[in-house]
Amino acid sequence: MLGRALVTLAYLAPCFCKVYEDVAQLPGLSYDFVIVGGGTAGNVVANRLTENPDFSVLVLEAGVSNEGVTDSIVPGLVESLLQPNIYEWNYTTVPQPGLNGRNVGNLRAHILGGCSAHNGMVYTRGSADDYNRFATVTGDPGWSWDRLLPYFFKNEKWTPPVDHHDTQGQYNPAVHSTKGINSVSLSGSYWPIFSRHVIEATKQLPSDWPFNLDMNSGKPLGLGWLQSTIGGGMRSSSATSYLGPEFINRGNLHVLLHAQVSKLVDPSRANGTLSFGGVQFLQGGKLFTARAANEIILSAGSVGTPGILLHSGIGDEVALTALKIPTLLDLPSVGKNATDQPTFGLGWTVNSNQTLDPVFQNATRFDEAFAEWNRSHTGPLSGIGTTHIAWLRLDPEELASNGFTDPSAGPDSPHIEVFLGPGDFGAPPGSHSIFAGIAVLNPLSRGSVTINSSDPFESPVIDVGFLQRDIDVFTGREAIKKVLNFFKAPIWRDYIIAPIVDVGNLTDDALDQFIRNSASSAAHLVGTAAMSTKDARYGVVNPDLRVKGASGLRIIDASVFPFVPSAHTQAASYVIAERGADIVKKAWE
Ligand SMILES: Cc1cc2nc3c(=O)[nH]c(=O)nc-3n(C[C@H](O)[C@H](O)[C@H](O)COP(=O)(O)OP(=O)(O)OC[C@H]3O[C@@H](n4cnc5c(N)ncnc54)[C@H](O)[C@@H]3O)c2cc1C
Ligand SMILES: *[C@@H]1O[C@H](CO)[C@@H](O)[C@H](O)[C@H]1NC(C)=O
Ligand SMILES: *[C@@H]1O[C@H](CO)[C@@H](O)[C@H](O)[C@H]1NC(C)=O
Ligand SMILES: *[C@@H]1O[C@H](CO)[C@@H](O)[C@H](O)[C@H]1NC(C)=O
Ligand SMILES: *[C@@H]1O[C@H](CO)[C@@H](O)[C@H](O)[C@H]1NC(C)=O
Ligand SMILES: *[C@@H]1O[C@H](CO)[C@@H](O)[C@H](O)[C@H]1NC(C)=O
Ligand SMILES: *[C@@H]1O[C@H](CO)[C@@H](O)[C@H](O)[C@H]1NC(C)=O
Ligand SMILES: *[C@@H]1O[C@H](CO)[C@@H](O)[C@H](O)[C@H]1NC(C)=O
Ligand SMILES: *[C@@H]1O[C@H](CO)[C@@H](O)[C@H](O)[C@H]1NC(C)=O
Repeated sequence: MLGRALVTLAYLAPCFCKVYEDVAQLPGLSYDFVIVGGGTAGNVVANRLTENPDFSVLVLEAGVSNEGVTDSIVPGLVESLLQPNIYEWNYTTVPQPGLNGRNVGNLRAHILGGCSAHNGMVYTRGSADDYNRFATVTGDPGWSWDRLLPYFFKNEKWTPPVDHHDTQGQYNPAVHSTKGINSVSLSGSYWPIFSRHVIEATKQLPSDWPFNLDMNSGKPLGLGWLQSTIGGGMRSSSATSYLGPEFINRGNLHVLLHAQVSKLVDPSRANGTLSFGGVQFLQGGKLFTARAANEIILSAGSVGTPGILLHSGIGDEVALTALKIPTLLDLPSVGKNATDQPTFGLGWTVNSNQTLDPVFQNATRFDEAFAEWNRSHTGPLSGIGTTHIAWLRLDPEELASNGFTDPSAGPDSPHIEVFLGPGDFGAPPGSHSIFAGIAVLNPLSRGSVTINSSDPFESPVIDVGFLQRDIDVFTGREAIKKVLNFFKAPIWRDYIIAPIVDVGNLTDDALDQFIRNSASSAAHLVGTAAMSTKDARYGVVNPDLRVKGASGLRIIDASVFPFVPSAHTQAASYVIAERGADIVKKAWE
């Protein structure tokens, strides 16, 4: 978590000829499909639609190229991307009452590949219950775990770890696919001493911290080995995979960078249904219109998508009228029910020199690590700091005695995530550390993404609504107690020296304050254009991802999730995009 040196390195970029930087290079501005946002989901849709040579597709991406961006390629350098720079939208939230008035960053990628090109690369699908709840609340069994599993397999390309260590007992091959597009692997920076302690602790505390061979089986509960969207020691993003060389040269696929969409244009109505002729975008200070003969697909993410809808006159009529934006569709749910997971961390100094700390504290060690990565894509920078994740449930009696009902999607779904790793927690210089990061997975608090200006190039107003509901704070507090117990397992006795943040003797009230003063965003914002049943009186899209009351307009990104899965959200974003693309193809083939 310390500042990391930005490494610049000239790579020989392969020619991705169909990624255009200038609108003047495009052969035209009329396509069958226009996809807004070349992010995690948008590039999946672009890839799948252009499998049909009869469809022409234009992707409009506001951000910059991912080509040769070292910090996006080298897994261990990700933190350099997560600060104000050209790869970021630089959003922040409004002050959060639940965080004692603090505002927290709201990281969003401004680069081809979207958040998949600058996220933490953790690969977690969530529980079968999470998707079965999607199916229930949308009335569409197609969103259930069993029906989505083939789409997880279309996405995932299971890959050996770059260090080629023996992975027996670290995952279950039966729940993975080697035939998908985006690489997933066990970590190639294998920290044997820390890992041995973690696994031994699961044996010493088998009822509270059971070992789980594979957290991506639909039954995540327990502690298992981290899987990440890394292949050959390099990040695999939707830009490197779904727009890889074998796809980007398709004649029917064009991607335009530096193209920020402002709104949908040329509205018309037929049979009471609204449709739009195209989208307006800004490039180099000039406005252009791209036309879609079949469909416009919004994949601008949980912040971008509601922003574009609102500026197009789709949203809460009262709020739009106040900004003098004519309402074309009164859909009050646009931007509402925004859900994100609060996260915070604990750390300890340890009696082991096998941690990441020296790499980020000592320039010589950093240079050695970078040289090793540069040589063979191996070493500490070939992975992220986390080695294992535990997925835990709250005690049902504790929940009930505090007057709470279970917020999870079902009995096989966790309430709490604990991610564990050796080092770089901010240990005092010269010492070594480990960390336990905690996330509240099913918060009941809700926020919003709204606008306070009719200028589409002004930032939207982002409120993550953190820790407004007591159960969210309670969950965080119980998580801390569980983590403290984990590190009481005998195996840690000679390993742990002292807590870096000492919460061991705090009262419940003090623990709550610790959480409110230290929580930040897991960057898993979803739900701002949520799916609901076809006849629901709330929601933004139907289960086929069509905007309610409109035709030729769909949303395919994380904003359609009706709930946040009990997981990191990229795998869910990929799978929604894989099925969404299939729905679109079937509608037009
Ligand atoms: C810092 C960070 C770390 C994360 N870590 C993890 C992790 O380790 N594991 C995990 O599973 N998930 C992680 N996530 C979450 C996960 O990456 C996202 O939930 C997921 O990628 C969202 O996909 P998306 O397609 O909805 O949106 P995005 O990937 O954000 O794509 C949206 C795209 O649209 C573009 N865009 C937006 N507005 C416009 C506009 N007006 N005009 C044109 N283009 C526009 C954006 O530039 C972006 O490229 C992380 C997220 C962040 C931000
Ligand atoms: C974010 O901030 C950086 C540094 O100030 C700036 O270079 C970049 O252009 C900003 N991003 C956007 C999308 O404006
Ligand atoms: C409008 O409805 C009529 C009758 O139901 C139908 O024939 C026509 O195709 C519809 N037009 C559009 C644009 O959907
Ligand atoms: C938020 O979601 C809930 C269901 O989880 C729904 O009942 C409610 O109407 C939604 N609110 C809005 C404003 O969409
Ligand atoms: C790490 O610790 C081991 C054993 O305690 C020791 O032999 C080794 O020299 C140390 N390595 C470094 C780089 O300090
Ligand atoms: C930094 O690492 C190098 C190489 O291992 C070592 O020689 C040097 O003593 C370290 N510097 C400090 C300040 O620990
Ligand atoms: C990385 O490797 C290339 C050759 O493959 C070399 O030219 C360059 O200097 C190396 N960079 C670093 C920082 O090691
Ligand atoms: C809109 O909200 C942002 C964030 O709260 C604030 O900085 C800005 O001044 C507001 N703009 C207007 C026009 O109210
Ligand atoms: C709690 O306080 C006691 C008494 O002051 C102290 O001995 C102990 O180390 C503390 N425990 C933790 C985890 O800080």
